[in-house]
Amino acid sequence: MAKQILTTKNVRLSYGDFEALHGIDLAFDENEITALIGPSGCGKSTYLRCINRMNDQIDGVKISGELKFNDTDIYAEQTDVVELRKQIGMVFQQPNPFPMSIYDNVVFGLRIAGVRDKSMLDEAAQAALKQAAIWDEVKNKLDQNALALSGGQQQRICIARALAVSPNIILLDEPTSALDPHSSRQIETTLLQLKEHYTIITVTHNLQQASRIADRTAFFLQGDLIEAGTTKQIFMNPEHQETSDFITGIFG
Ligand SMILES: Nc1ncnc2c1ncn2[C@@H]1O[C@H](COP(=O)(O)OP(=O)(O)OP(=O)(O)O)[C@@H](O)[C@H]1O
Ligand SMILES: [Mg+2]
Repeated sequence: MAKQILTTKNVRLSYGDFEALHGIDLAFDENEITALIGPSGCGKSTYLRCINRMNDQIDGVKISGELKFNDTDIYAEQTDVVELRKQIGMVFQQPNPFPMSIYDNVVFGLRIAGVRDKSMLDEAAQAALKQAAIWDEVKNKLDQNALALSGGQQQRICIARALAVSPNIILLDEPTSALDPHSSRQIETTLLQLKEHYTIITVTHNLQQASRIADRTAFFLQGDLIEAGTTKQIFMNPEHQETSDFITGIFG
């Protein structure tokens, strides 16, 4: 049986007086891809950011509920956020490589963690770039500035950068929405390969993408989780009218 790696119970989040999440219960199995879908403003990014505490820095945010990563209580006082983010990495909508070489981008997190050994860094960089399916395209120009790559390549560098610190979970917030269809498909293929080793949670506005890559899909609406299930069930046989309306394009 698949192991639950992440459970979230009754997650509520307010930005000041505005409650953006009204109590989300959702659990994630290891080595699966889950797609979070729903219309703009329904709380997908907010929920995703709760998982590795990226909302902490925002002024006036209040979060309650229980979020557990394996046995770690994500919001416990003793939880080390830097350590947590090593295990729960994130990739954003706009590719955001640092203005430095491809190599330096990928080993950035390892250097921060104190790794200095050149052969260790080289090995980790190569492994991460291979996993992110971009090694062949960049292996002869690792010293080149990452900003000189195409958008799709930059996004795979960002995925490699997230992988290099050996996370368990990767969160992606609309990772392909800034990319052309060909690059998007490359990222999809990459994610499908990655789920062998990682648990993946991705926000997407592209329902076809969700149906192509996600094992499970969760549908959000105005701060509520309407339903979650296997992607097949959500797309073919949703329980709720709102889900069906969204899937069939009546709104959103
Ligand atoms: N930093 C913030 N301060 C105040 N309100 C916010 C903040 N970030 C998001 N919100 C509000 O919380 C709600 C959920 O926003 P969120 O960004 O999570 O939606 P989303 O589902 O990711 O939307 P989209 O598909 O457009 O990215 C929205 O009403 C949004 O305006
Ligand atoms: Mg969003």
